[in-house]
Formats: sequence, structure tokens, C-alpha cells
Amino acid sequence: MANIRILNGEAFPVEMHKVRVIQKLNLPPVEERAKAVTLAGNNTFLLRNRDVFLDMLTDSGVNAMSDNQLSAMLRADDSYAGSETFFRLQESLDHVFQKEFFLPAHQGRACEHILAKTFVKKGSIVPMNYHFTTTKAHITELGGQVLEIPTKEAYKITSACPFKGNLDIEALKEALQKHAGRIPFVRLEAGTNLIGGQPLSLDNIKETYAVCKKAGVPLVLDASLLSDNLHFIKTREDKYKRLSILEITREIARHSDIIYFSARKLSSARGGGICTSNKDYYLLMRELVPMYEGFLTYGGMSVREMEAMAVGLVETMDENVISQGPEFIDYMTRQLAAAGVPVVTPGGGLGCHLDAKAFLPHIDQRQYPSGALAVALYIISGVRGMERGTLSEQRDENGNEPLADMELVRLAMPRRVFTMSQVKYAIDRIVWLHKNAGLVGGLTWDEEPRVLRFFYGRLLPVGDWQERLVEKFKQDFGDSL
Ligand code: F0G
Repeated sequence: MANIRILNGEAFPVEMHKVRVIQKLNLPPVEERAKAVTLAGNNTFLLRNRDVFLDMLTDSGVNAMSDNQLSAMLRADDSYAGSETFFRLQESLDHVFQKEFFLPAHQGRACEHILAKTFVKKGSIVPMNYHFTTTKAHITELGGQVLEIPTKEAYKITSACPFKGNLDIEALKEALQKHAGRIPFVRLEAGTNLIGGQPLSLDNIKETYAVCKKAGVPLVLDASLLSDNLHFIKTREDKYKRLSILEITREIARHSDIIYFSARKLSSARGGGICTSNKDYYLLMRELVPMYEGFLTYGGMSVREMEAMAVGLVETMDENVISQGPEFIDYMTRQLAAAGVPVVTPGGGLGCHLDAKAFLPHIDQRQYPSGALAVALYIISGVRGMERGTLSEQRDENGNEPLADMELVRLAMPRRVFTMSQVKYAIDRIVWLHKNAGLVGGLTWDEEPRVLRFFYGRLLPVGDWQERLVEKFKQDFGDSL
């Protein structure tokens, strides 16, 4: 990404690609947005996309593909078993990760399902830098437990720490001793999703691997958000600045026993997979692929997705390709912070994260400030973000609701999808909302599902705050949408 400084001194990242296919967007008027979110049960997951202007819900499966990915999709070899497409994908994975075995799966959580079913049993404890929703759900469904041991910096909203995603090595050593025999694997998540897309350092991965090896416990890397993390190692970890992205990737892979990923993120495609050089692990996991996913040479994916993944993985090894997301996020984060809006710093990968606790300090965590902020932002801008706070947690077996460590609204930056003027629009509306934050109220459950409740749960506003917010918006913006 070219970082360009213009005459007036302003600096911003400039896209190193051009747009050749477009999708028309719709920005419904504010009253219609308020109606749409009511119909959606005050849950941004349940909005219809036609009512959304900028979809910053996720970067999953919505990244723009390259011309080379699209053309590769046309030459896919569609056969149930032994397709050439599979071997092209295997070759591409071997090029980047240099692992001997590859198991295809239809997406990241399917890999987690296979991993959990293979390794986790009742009483298992899985230490990790931080959980992801679907990871935790698979482990706890099998009677296991997640043990989060990130660095202390991880929980600081504002920080100068370049690697807030790191695992606390001392805490890991303690856990391995204390829970010896109960730890089936240690999990590291690149670009920690739930704490602001914050990266791991290569040194931390190496140290974790050394400790795991000594204890005889495999290290599993969730590489779904690896591409952003690679950019951060290259630009923030001085020791490794001279390594190419490919060399950094291979170093990471050399220091993990199993790598799995969602190709909806990594490689800007769809699908997922598990790589390892350990034959025993491979054979154990292999049994489950035909049972839950599909035959071993497609694993539930369409061959077109696999071709796009094969090309996308190789393209991920180009710094100019992977820097666009993090640099747009960095721009958005800095602009918001400069305007006094509470955001997670430093900017991470995946998206820009608003700190809902500080944004809406008057809303009790039991009335879901992150959920309320996501809803309010949609109403006043048509920008769809995602709640990453207490709603994204799950009740324990006694029905108690854990309060999230952080109350965030994630504004994902799907790769190569948005332009700078769209990002500027989102920044402007967020700044307006921050000035009018006192108008926003909380949410309460209408229908609460048992697992992964944030996906399809329905909520109601506490009081008439949404009507008042719409009125104030109309006062300030007049006819403007
Ligand atoms: N691991 C991480 C770190 C993820 O971010 C995700 C998905 C998964 C695993 C599961 O992969 O969706 O392909 O099944 N994250 C998406 C998101 C859902 O919006 O952040 P999947």
C-alpha cells in the first residue's frame, strides 16, 4: 500500500488495485433504517442487506477477489474424488505453510469441530491467547473448558503495545503444570478477533511453541486472521523486518503443529482447512472429514472456492495485497481517536473497534452497550457493525451470564471492498453519534437462543430512545440521508 502525503500535509493510504466489478448500494432514509432494525429484532445480523449501506459486519466471505482468483475459478476441475483442483490447492498450501498433510473443510468452524471432536473430551482444558465464539462453543459442547491467558495489555483499550494478541508465556507454563494431563492442545489465534484484531508477534509464537514442545502438548494455530498478522509482524517487529512475508509465514508454520483457517478470511475466498506434518494427528482427524464435511479432496467446498483459495493464498504473500485492510483500519482508528471517539488502539486487523463502554458509559453492561451502539450506528448511518461484547458471550450451565471483558463494536474492513470516501462517511457519522451518545439507551432480550445467541437472538430497546435519536438526526442533517 502506498502511503501518500498530499500538499496540505495530510497522509492517507492509497489503494494498490483498481475496481473493475461493482455492486450498487442503497442508503435508505433514516426512518426506514429505524424500521428495518426493529424488524431485525435490534440485531444487526438479522438486517436484510438491501437495507444496509456499508456492510462492516464482517470480513468473512465478503472480501473482493482478484482478477486472477476469478479466472482460476473458471478452470476448476469438478469431480467428487481426486480433482486436479484439490492438488493445485494442496500445492499452494504446501508453498506457504510447508506442511505435509491437508484436510479440507467447508469453513473455519468446521475445522474447529474436527479438532475439538478429535482432541477434546469432558474435563479438557484448552489454554489460548483468546477465544473465538465458534472455537469456544465447540470446546464447551464437548465438556471442555477454555483457559484464556493473553498478555495483560490485551485488555487495555488504549495502548501502544504493538502485539496485544500475545500469549502470556509464564501463565502458559503454570497452566501446563497445574493441568498436566488435561490439556489436549494449546491454541494461538493470529489477529485475535474478539479483542480488536490484535496481532501476535513471531517471537511469541516461537516461545509458545518451545514451551508446548517441552510439555509434549501440540500447538494449534488458528490462522484465519493471519494475513493482517503477517503485515504487523513485517511492520512492527523490528527483528523480522527483513524477512519476506513468505519467509515470515513459513517461520510461523514451522513453529506450530497444526494450522487451521477460515478461507473466508485468509485468502479472500471461501472454505477452510487443516494442515499438519504430524501423521498421527492427520489420521485421527481424517476420519471425521468424510463424515461431516465431504470426501477428502473437497471437504464440503465447491471446487471454485478451492481454486480461488489456491490463488488467494499465494497472493497473500504480497505485502501490497495484505496491507490494504490494516492501513484503512489504521486511518479510521486514528481519525476517530483524534476526534475523541473511544477506539481500540493501536489499530489492529479485521476492523476498527469502538469501545462501547466508554462511548455509552451510562448504559449498564446488562443492557448491552455494544449491541445498543451497533443498532444506533446503523440507524444514523446505514453502516452495519457487529456487537462484540456481552451479547457475544454465552450463559454458563447455571444460566448465569458472564459479562464480557470488553464491550466493542466491530466495524470490519472487508479487504479491497470500500473506498476512502466511504470510510470518511463512516467516520463522520460515528463522530456525530459520539456527540449525541447521551440519546442512546440499552437493549433487553425478546428471544434469547441457548448457543451463539448473538447470531439470531432478538432484542427490544429499553424506552423510546430510537425515536429520539431519529428526531435529532433529522434536526441536524435535514434532508440528507
Ligand atoms: N477463527 C477465527 C479467528 C475467526 O475469526 C472465525 C470467523 C472462525 C475461526 C470461524 O471461521 O466463519 O469460516 O467458520 N470469524 C467470522 C467473523 C465469523 O465474522 O469474525 P468460519
